Amino acid sequence: MRKTTSYMTSNTIDRRTAKEIAKRRTFAIISHPDAGKTTLTEKLLLFGGAIKQAGAVKSRKVAKAATSDFLSIEQERGISVSSSVMKFNYLGYEINLLDTPGHKDFSEDTYRVLTAVDCAIMIIDSAKGVEPQTKKLMEVCRMRNTPIITFINKLDREGMEPLDIFDDIENKLQIECTPMTWPIGMGKRFKGVYNLERKELGLFAPGYTPTDGNGIVINDLGDPELDRQLGSQARELRDDIALIQGAADPFDREYYLKGSQTPVFFGSAINNFGVKEMLDAFVEMAPPPGKRKTATRTVSPDETAFSGFTFKIQANMDPAHRDRIAFFRICSGKFTRGMRVRHHRIGKEIILSNATIFMAQERNNVDEAFPGDIIGIHNHGTIKIGDTFTDKEPLKFLGIPSFAPEHFRRVILKDPLKTKSLQKGLLQLAEEGTIQVFRPSISNDYILGAVGALQFDVTMARLKAEYSVSAGYEPVDLSVARWVTCTDSEIFKRFTRENQSSLAIDSEGWTTFLTTSEYQLGFAVEAWPDINFHKTREYN
Ligand code: G4P
Repeated sequence: MRKTTSYMTSNTIDRRTAKEIAKRRTFAIISHPDAGKTTLTEKLLLFGGAIKQAGAVKSRKVAKAATSDFLSIEQERGISVSSSVMKFNYLGYEINLLDTPGHKDFSEDTYRVLTAVDCAIMIIDSAKGVEPQTKKLMEVCRMRNTPIITFINKLDREGMEPLDIFDDIENKLQIECTPMTWPIGMGKRFKGVYNLERKELGLFAPGYTPTDGNGIVINDLGDPELDRQLGSQARELRDDIALIQGAADPFDREYYLKGSQTPVFFGSAINNFGVKEMLDAFVEMAPPPGKRKTATRTVSPDETAFSGFTFKIQANMDPAHRDRIAFFRICSGKFTRGMRVRHHRIGKEIILSNATIFMAQERNNVDEAFPGDIIGIHNHGTIKIGDTFTDKEPLKFLGIPSFAPEHFRRVILKDPLKTKSLQKGLLQLAEEGTIQVFRPSISNDYILGAVGALQFDVTMARLKAEYSVSAGYEPVDLSVARWVTCTDSEIFKRFTRENQSSLAIDSEGWTTFLTTSEYQLGFAVEAWPDINFHKTREYN
């Protein structure tokens, strides 16, 4: 009989640790490029005192960058890593803001970052409403029911009517909206917002930097002060509020925490308007670190035993040291510098001696960290995305996905003597999640797969810079990949025998079906009903 070990889990954390957990807020901002993520991030960091002046986050902006710009930006790793996770303190809360790449070709990275957060802020451009990338990111948030607060940005410009934006969000994203503030006009007529909960009027002035208590309290909307402040727009506000109070659902914390309702704030990030109201509400409403599923059980943040997982790897961030940093989310227990943890995939104990915590513009060595925190662990290729470390218990956190690529290229090695370096480079880049690498069953080719085509150029540039491999790529007639599994080994054998020319093995050893179109995939799915064709897979 197989021996089973029981691992004691205890909930007797000390009061200080419990307090530390309760004050953590770990989140990401989701938006379509150009909606104002960089601008809002900067304002949040200014409020948190993490940066001193506007402009500090701009260098992160790759949304509109060409490949070459992207590469040169990436080479300035000092900047990009410090802004991958930005830690700041606000009203006594410890906030971890996880950056997500703006460019759609890096969306896979973004999806994985979203697995490490407890909540999100969604930015919508008031003129554009819900845009495609927001929709995709929202789908990912929905997988884990991540609670979302919405910020409707750019009210200083003409945009859609607020209620039309609500309709757009509710229809396209299937989430109920509840207004927390309400705008008074827009564009040239933008006067400010009315805070429905605090019953406070915030008046807009371009470049406005609010401090506590400067809102005008209007407890009764009939107050003539409202007319003095807003003139003819006071009536519009009264009508709007009467309408929304009848039509909109009130804020329901439980619904919000389940990801079924989103509280909505209006403002203008560039003018620093409406941002503080949102941040104040965010720290109060947003959940502290929550429970996490593993393959065997659910882990609670208040367990004393340490556990967590890696959701992102970034290579060679310091050009002087060719190391890699694994971004690790702590799920339970307390991290202390020099602690020993079990690295379950390789079955070894490792010492976490030089973990880093990320402040907005710098990296600091960390002595202790708590659930919800993200630490950076230096390594030389021993850590992969999805790796779990714990005190002892062999856990495997779930929900760290790899997505079936949609773009494919065949690698052309320019110097045949560099085959080994090519192999090593591609394997490491695959471990980082930058690219997926497939070896077809019937050839010695390397087929690269990516969710976004820009990844191919980045891969070639990095092969050259980091592994001294000159390689190029050529088109290949493939557009669909699915990981295949089957519970019946005989059927699986027959399937692999009869489909050899369409099969490949990926860098983690999974059998993958590669084909030219969804149409062809449809044929295979129909012909092999016992085979499962997976669009996503978990990291090993
Ligand atoms: P992103 O990270 O989501 O891609 O957006 P980012 O913050 O870079 O903002 C995109 C553009 O929208 C920027 O203009 C930015 O200044 C502008 N913007 C952000 N918030 C507001 C707002 O509240 N009102 C208005 N009117 N504009 C806003 P840009 O011209 O593309 O760049 P820049 O030259 O200003 O840097």
